[in-house]
This record gives sequence, C-alpha cells and structure tokens, in this order.
Amino acid sequence: MSRFWNERTRALSPYVAGEQPRPGERLIKLNTNENPYSVSDTVRERLLSFDPATLRLYPDPSSRSLREALAADFGVTPDMVFCGNGSDEVLAFCFQAFFETAPGAAPLFFPDISYSFYPVYAKLFGIPTERIPLNADFTVPVERFCEPSGGVAIANPNAPTSLALGTKDIRRIIESQPDRLVLIDQAYAAFGTEDCVPLLSEYSNLLIVGTLSKSHSLAGLRVGFAIASPEIIEGICRVRDSFNSYPVDMLALELATLAVKDRPYVESNIEKIIRTREAATLSLQDLGFTVLPSQTNFLFVRPDKIPAEELYKKLRGAGILVRYFAKPRIDDYLRITVGTDEQMSELLREIKRIYSLNSAADKK
Ligand SMILES: Cc1ncc(COP(=O)(O)O)c(C=O)c1O
Repeated sequence: MSRFWNERTRALSPYVAGEQPRPGERLIKLNTNENPYSVSDTVRERLLSFDPATLRLYPDPSSRSLREALAADFGVTPDMVFCGNGSDEVLAFCFQAFFETAPGAAPLFFPDISYSFYPVYAKLFGIPTERIPLNADFTVPVERFCEPSGGVAIANPNAPTSLALGTKDIRRIIESQPDRLVLIDQAYAAFGTEDCVPLLSEYSNLLIVGTLSKSHSLAGLRVGFAIASPEIIEGICRVRDSFNSYPVDMLALELATLAVKDRPYVESNIEKIIRTREAATLSLQDLGFTVLPSQTNFLFVRPDKIPAEELYKKLRGAGILVRYFAKPRIDDYLRITVGTDEQMSELLREIKRIYSLNSAADKK
C-alpha cells in the first residue's frame, strides 16, 4: 500500500496467475493449461530467420495478416475479427466496450465458478455484476442466464470445471434477450466443444473471444482474438485505439499468422492431447478420483482419498505443479493440465507413491 494509490487502486482485488517456475527450475508444469507441445517447424524457422532490424518499425495496428488468417480459419470475413495481446486483453476491451457502468445499470451475469478474470475486470471498470451459481454438478443453469441482465459472459467450455454447454443451450441464452450481448469465451473450445462461430450468421448479439495460447501452443506470444459482427468489432477497436494502438507486436503478428495457417499441425496436437486426456481420466478414476467429463485441455478432479490441498502440496514437493483454488465450492478439487503421456504417467506414479505413503502411515 502506498499513499499515492488512488481510491480505485486501493479497492482492486487483482487476478492471481498460476505459479511460473523460476528459470532453471525443473518442474512438471500442469498448472496453467499451456499446450505441452512446441510450435510447428514453420513457426520455429520463421522465428530463427526474423530480421531484428525490422523491430525499429511499428507493427501493423490492424493486425491485418492475422485477421485474414483467422477469418479464413473460422469462415468469416476479416472485418469480423479483432486481435489483441492475449485474450485477457481482448476480454478487457470487450468489458469496457459493451457492459454498462452507469448507476443502476443492469448487472452483467457470469457463473459463480468461472474464469477469475471476469470479476476482476468488472471491478476495475465499475461494471455491476451478478454471479449466477452453477448447479451442484457444476453445470450451467441455463434458465437463469435467460433472465434479463446487462450482458452475459460465459466461458464455454468453462474453466476450471472443464464442462461445456451445447449449442442448443447457447442458442436459448442468446435468443432469450436479443438486445443483450452474450460473450462466449472459447479459450478451450478447440479441445472438443462445438464452436459457436457459425451462430454469428444468425445472431447479432453474440461476441466470441478466443486465444492462440492453448490450441496453438503460443501462450508466451500473447495473442487472442474476438469474432463478431463488424459493428461489434468496431466498438472493440474504439476502446483499443483509446488505450494502445499496437497491442499485437510485429513478431507476434508474423508467428501467430503462420501458426493459424498451420491447421494440420495444430489439429494433430489437439488430437494427441484429447487422447492423453481420456487415458488420464480413466487412470485417475481407477485411483478413486472423481473426474468431471472434460472438453478442455485440463481435468477438474476431486481426489476422494486425500484432501485436495494436501495432494497439491505433496505434488508440489515432488516437483509437479497442479492448480488448487482455495475457494468456496471447489476447495476439494484440483485442476490438472493435460501434459504429454510421459508427464501424465509421472503424475500418476507420484500420486500412487503419495497414496501408499499415506496408507502406510495410517497403518502405524
Ligand atoms: C477461460 C479463459 N479465458 C481466457 C484466458 C486467457 O488466455 P490468454 O490471455 O492467454 O489468451 C484463459 C487462460 O487461462 C482462460 O482460462
């Protein structure tokens, strides 16, 4: 706390990111839902041949090449695509552009258990909110989201629960209030959920946000995007150009464009991750875990034989990072990113070792 902090800074409750290992620290990192596979050779070769002298110039403020590549990939036009510095930034622009802050404004709806940046942005920008409780099984209470509100933000699939809503339910939410914007955050949609982009041809109150961090192995490059009607995209550009005209740097723009064009490579990694996810689900169930049916690149699990926090700490001690949230309703769960087959085998071996040490201690 500094005496120079203004009232708003004092009132903030910032997002807490998952632990990042220190340089040189050898950990199995299954805590922030990164892709375990590297970028394609095309992207790697471009990075190695990049001429540093070009960095003296500003990048294209409109990220045209990337917008064109994403538009072709999703079957929309480039004027329906916006690119930013990670989808976190894109979400921040969207919250600022579309959700009202005036006193008495209708609240923005999002699930009580969801991506923790939503309440952080709402507080930063002064947007009134209502957190809609998920059902006991962590599914989305669709009817509640059909009630009038100042907007809706839903991660689909949801994080950290890993569960997805079907298109039929998304349609119901969109159709229930045609004059209200519905933001669908598709950070994990590539891992098995129906993509909502085709719905844009039917609904003008839909806004989709996505990222290259997970599906395209580019979390470190920071590239996210939005897809919506040209009018909605123009609204996001107005906010961007009132804040930072160049959110996607030159290197990010080039590499991300190539990564998006390399669809077969991205798809083969996604398939591998899905196979590993399904195998890890069965193995964890065999060990007595409750595992939610994931449609993402992570598993949301309840280790029924040992408190989640204890298992998290013991795994951390053994050099394996997973995510534990000390939050109501989910403090007996862990979120585990799907790594390579080898990483998941290492995780399972360590869990078995922890369990056998515990049961030996119990017998004494
Ligand atoms: C649901 C959801 N949305 C958005 C993001 C942000 O992704 P990025 O800023 O890396 O694009 C994340 C990151 O974990 C996420 O889980």
